[in-house]
Amino acid sequence: MAISLKTSFCEGFIRDCDVQAIREEIVSAKKTLDEGTGKGSAFTGWVKLPYNYDREEYARIKAAAERIKKSCDIFVVIGIGGSYLGSRAAIEFVKSPLYNSLKKDTPDVYFAGNSLSPTALSELLQICEGKDICVNVISKSGTTTEPAVAFRIFRELLVKKYGNEEAVKRIYVTTDKVRGALKKLADAEGCETFVVPDDIGGRYSVLTAVGLLPIAVAGIDTDEMLRGAYDAAEKFRNAPFEENDAMRYAAYRNLLYRSGKTTEIMASYESGYAMMNEWWKQLYGESEGKDGKGLFPASVIFSTDLHSLGQYIQDGVRNLFETVISFKAPTADVKIPYDEENADGLNFLAGKTLFEANAKAEAATILAHCDGGVPNLVLEFDRKDAYNFGYAVYFFEYACGISGYTLGVNPFDQPGVEAYKKNMYALLGKPGYEEHAAALLSRMKK
Ligand code: PA5
Repeated sequence: MAISLKTSFCEGFIRDCDVQAIREEIVSAKKTLDEGTGKGSAFTGWVKLPYNYDREEYARIKAAAERIKKSCDIFVVIGIGGSYLGSRAAIEFVKSPLYNSLKKDTPDVYFAGNSLSPTALSELLQICEGKDICVNVISKSGTTTEPAVAFRIFRELLVKKYGNEEAVKRIYVTTDKVRGALKKLADAEGCETFVVPDDIGGRYSVLTAVGLLPIAVAGIDTDEMLRGAYDAAEKFRNAPFEENDAMRYAAYRNLLYRSGKTTEIMASYESGYAMMNEWWKQLYGESEGKDGKGLFPASVIFSTDLHSLGQYIQDGVRNLFETVISFKAPTADVKIPYDEENADGLNFLAGKTLFEANAKAEAATILAHCDGGVPNLVLEFDRKDAYNFGYAVYFFEYACGISGYTLGVNPFDQPGVEAYKKNMYALLGKPGYEEHAAALLSRMKK
């Protein structure tokens, strides 16, 4: 089993009878998800994706990745939210947060268009100077401002550097099958395109071309990743509640929420998990935070953040619970050396490995936080590899669907994201937004 849920550190907070009481709600939410009868069911194509993904497109993605590996030093992935978080998480989880600095025979991968920061884009443009570049622009709608702006800039750069004909060969477009500005442009120019399926929303799309192309370019075994997702789908779609950790995770987080624990902190002791946390925050935050409801998804990397947020978690407002990501085995390990002088008094650690020390920090913190009134769930992963990534993606997505339906929301829409966009368009002077702009400006002057 690639992931297993331990609930023993919730004892004293959640009783067995509470779990029994919510069991039927969870079973019913799962049935709604499986049968596609709930709110937003038009966007649940990801549930069966590990069984019926487009094999022809998958072969094209792999072939494109091989071409990209041979033809560039830097692969720029342009996208925001669900159009970049998953692939970035995969690269950092399976390879390393330091992927670009490691010795390797694959291109550096940089992410752009996930903010409007002029500094970030200028720095990336500097890094690209004198380097061969390929670009993957990813946007389901094709109209999102941040990636569209970055794509304009990179497209201009590619045309200047290579001329139109060669630039087109270096641009890969991942977007809607038929609709949208990006699809139109790709078809007009003749760029290779990949599809974000109609029935899969951005934050559930990492196992489609959205994630697969950048992940394959980074040299990650996507077959293994999809095998992990398939095994997770088989497990979590078929196992009964008592043996189904996706259902149990959904049950516990809803029970904790109902008991006043309104913030879930995802905690990992591996820095390679930081972007997984970001992916998870988007998945759960956008899926559940609506209609005045939803757990607030937060994250920490320990022991680093024990020296920043540790105080609050131990002692602050008691509306928190933690979900700890624990690895059974390290990807690499380091032995702590013996020191003749022992000036730091640490010779009691000599001969132990950092993995052992990290595991003790984890156990010590879980117990301390429980004593401080913060229940802990533990998700134990086998290791950080492609198989476990695919397995984890399916686990979290499936649990999210069940959890959202149990909460009583539509886990597959994101109406709240539009509010800032409407204001931004108005303030940037987009035609058609004049009246709204005037109202905003008068509020800003007050
Ligand atoms: O999960 C979602 O649907 C969003 O986070 C989108 O992925 C994000 O807003 C980007 O949208 P698009 O791919 O249309 O540019």
